[in-house]
Amino acid sequence: MENHSEPLYLYPVWIRLWHILNALFCLTLIITGLSIQFSNPTIIVRFRVAVAVHNVAGVLLSVNYIIFFIGNLFTKNGAYYVFEVRGYFSRLKSQFHHYTIGVFKKEAAPFPVTVDSKFNPLQQLSYVAVMYVIIPLVILSGLGLLYPEITINNLLGISGLDYTDLLHLFCGFVVTIFMCIHIYFCTFGKTALSNFKSIINGYH
Ligand code: HEM
Repeated sequence: MENHSEPLYLYPVWIRLWHILNALFCLTLIITGLSIQFSNPTIIVRFRVAVAVHNVAGVLLSVNYIIFFIGNLFTKNGAYYVFEVRGYFSRLKSQFHHYTIGVFKKEAAPFPVTVDSKFNPLQQLSYVAVMYVIIPLVILSGLGLLYPEITINNLLGISGLDYTDLLHLFCGFVVTIFMCIHIYFCTFGKTALSNFKSIINGYH
């Protein structure tokens, strides 16, 4: 998100609260998830503690996700997650060019932030993919691992639990990569810290 003269109120209180909790739960889940995956020898957190914390953080993240989902359904924030498919790839190309070349030449952003358009094309795609595909899949596969009896018994000779596990690991990995890229791109504001201040005080 780049230069703009007037401060715009873009992040209502509920989005800021959801976001900070979501970031904390995701960090906890990544650290404990890695500790469960690489439990022998123990890395970061002991196995039993990691499992207990991972389960609680997973349930809390799910409840927080429901708040995000309902909030976006019933407030105007949801409109930012709906975008025009026609011409999308050429807009994405302009944004990509800006992030890889334009930004270093101090060129103006191709999609300046306005009250009607809070996200640039790259944010639109990545936020929709993560919030409406990857996080729901991580939650559903997590539920399957917590309650194995709800997963299918067998598909092509392989247990349903194995597929569920693979899906959960894959989505957890995608969230981890998303978070690293997301934080990096958030530094491309007016100053390196301005977007981080926005998600705390609400103003861009
Ligand atoms: C420590 C971790 C994180 C930091 C420092 C961070 C930082 C930020 C910042 C600065 C913004 C505002 C700028 C923008 O809209 O791009 C933002 C918005 C957003 N972040 Fe993060 N983020 C973190 C973790 C996450 C995670 C784990 C997710 C999802 C899994 C996420 C999803 C989002 C979404 C969807 C928005 C837009 C919210 C809205 O306005 O509707 N963030 N984040």
